[in-house]
Amino acid sequence: MSETNIESILQEHRTFPPSSDFAANATIGSMEKYQELYNKAATDPEGFWGELAEKELHWFEKWEKVLDWQPPSAQWFVGGKLNLSYNCLDRHLTTWRKNKAALIWEGEPGDSCTLTYAQLHRQVCKMANVFKQLGVKKGDRVGIYMPMIPEAAIAMLACTRIGAPHSVIFGGFSAEALKTRLVDAEAKLVVTADGGFRKDKIVPLKIAVDEALADNGAPSVENVLVVQRTKNEIQMQEGRDHWWHDLEKDASANCPAEPMDSEDLLFILYTSGTTGKPKGVVHTTGGYNLYTHITTKWTFDLKDTDVYWCTADVGWITGHSYIVYGPLSNGATSLMYEGAPRPSNPGCLWDVVEKYGVTIFYTAPTAIRAFIKMGEDLPKARDLSSLRILGTVGEPINPEAWMWYHRVIGGEKCPIVDTWWQTETGGFMLTPLPGATPTKPGSATFPFPGIVADIVDLDGNPVGENEGGYLVVKQPWPSMIRTVYGDEARFRRTYWEHIKPKNGQHFYFAGDGARRDADGYFWVMGRVDDVMNVSGHRLGTMEVESALVSHPSVAEAAVVGRPNALKGEEVFAFVTLEGNYQGSDALKSELMQHVVQEIGAIARPGEIRFTDVLPKTRSGKIMRRLLRNLAAGEEVAGDTSTLEDRSVLDQLREG
Ligand code: WT7
Repeated sequence: MSETNIESILQEHRTFPPSSDFAANATIGSMEKYQELYNKAATDPEGFWGELAEKELHWFEKWEKVLDWQPPSAQWFVGGKLNLSYNCLDRHLTTWRKNKAALIWEGEPGDSCTLTYAQLHRQVCKMANVFKQLGVKKGDRVGIYMPMIPEAAIAMLACTRIGAPHSVIFGGFSAEALKTRLVDAEAKLVVTADGGFRKDKIVPLKIAVDEALADNGAPSVENVLVVQRTKNEIQMQEGRDHWWHDLEKDASANCPAEPMDSEDLLFILYTSGTTGKPKGVVHTTGGYNLYTHITTKWTFDLKDTDVYWCTADVGWITGHSYIVYGPLSNGATSLMYEGAPRPSNPGCLWDVVEKYGVTIFYTAPTAIRAFIKMGEDLPKARDLSSLRILGTVGEPINPEAWMWYHRVIGGEKCPIVDTWWQTETGGFMLTPLPGATPTKPGSATFPFPGIVADIVDLDGNPVGENEGGYLVVKQPWPSMIRTVYGDEARFRRTYWEHIKPKNGQHFYFAGDGARRDADGYFWVMGRVDDVMNVSGHRLGTMEVESALVSHPSVAEAAVVGRPNALKGEEVFAFVTLEGNYQGSDALKSELMQHVVQEIGAIARPGEIRFTDVLPKTRSGKIMRRLLRNLAAGEEVAGDTSTLEDRSVLDQLREG
């Protein structure tokens, strides 16, 4: 871990309590009620989670023990048997929700469809049977590389139905990134589409799959199931590739849900860390189901009349927990949108809100900043009066963006839930409850009931009021990461060894810095490790460096995040070239393209600066703090006395 970049941020004094009307109709309608739940969970966590598990989920067999905590390994609902797909689908079929809309889907070209719970159940069963036909058994991993179409959710639910853990790979990742993940997860089947529509272009997903599998690139993969979406030209490899519409025709719609052990592997989702290799975050069945269920229910104050829309992609944890599993487990109506704001239709999101009467809208600060840039006229030209709750996730939201969201999108009447969490936490950790918590622009406010969060120093001692420190979680929670797939040592090292409480306790270290104000509000200030946050997406500096040095011209690379008004951070790369290469604009573009090819468009450097040397300490460590200062055009702060060669600084400035 590098030096912290915790800065004091502005003091925010405005508070926005929920209206009395809103509070009166909310499930948790006051801070007293929140306190009561929080205290109950704190004094008797097993009682608290056990009662919720009993009340909120269907179990084929009840657990013997709520929690077995052998730090840092947790087992929740030990011995319990359940199925997530069953809880998201089957159990609603015996109620009036059978014919309620489960998914409302809008495609970018303007096509759309609605699937009721009964219809979704039928499709999921069919796909699950097709998986079985293609040789997928309980425990086998399935890679899902899909556009935002209903079949993406159907594939996920089909996996969980038969107990085949999925690994969804974001459709914006390159063939190379896809391959690495399929290999690490040893996926047996890949589910994909010919392509997806995004910003008036076709994303050629199947071609990327072919590339990933070429030359036996991912030897575990036996079959590829292809959904037809864009009808772009693709090759189907005989024996390996199968059209979903062909196999669907004869597939049975009867597929009982497999009773899974509460701790059975549910899915693997790769995320960036501080090394070049992404980590496969492992989530298991019972705890994940319960925690995403209850956080969706309380944080969005779900009602049966809600039309809930989360704009994330299913390739990220937000899509897993809060497009698919949390909402469907609650029997809610979840909207999926394939597209994104684009020059031909910059106001498309507001069209969708108006068309379907969206009541809950959940997006990212980077998107909000883009809305601000596009101007108020776009949202004002639509009827957004159906909205009642707004949400944000992915990075700290700047108070001005919060205020704009509140005023222009929320019409000053919608509570905003700023949810702090991570791929590893599975669900919301710090968040307002909309009917209870007075919000402050830029603060994720307080821990969800059952979450014991704190801000500490490296010895695990709580820091003082408004002092920066490390954000930790001191007690296990149901949807916590269980391990890093295939690398338990990395799991322990990454999350449990940076903060070392003297009394031998185990604190989960999130990688974020934070402070708490005089009212106890948490203010998350961003990563304190070598992880960037580009448009709400996590990206490891080492990952981009590895991509750069895999190009023949690059001798060494150092990557840092540079503050960017729209993206939060952008990738800034310092590159030294091999002796026989000359820096040029053409080479810069080539290197940028190379990173896109190795990782995906989200990792494209905003700037590359060639340099003969990189600033290193006498022990040979790259001085990232210094590079961050230089990239941001700031004075180099702090101590540079360990810098090996001081003339390096002038060179780097000149670029
Ligand atoms: C990192 C996790 C969890 C879904 C999206 C990202 C940052 C996330 C907030 C927030 C401040 C936030 C943190 C965190 N982050 N939400 N509301 N306020 N920072 O998931 O890719 O696992 O990234 O995103 O830095 O550690 P992820």
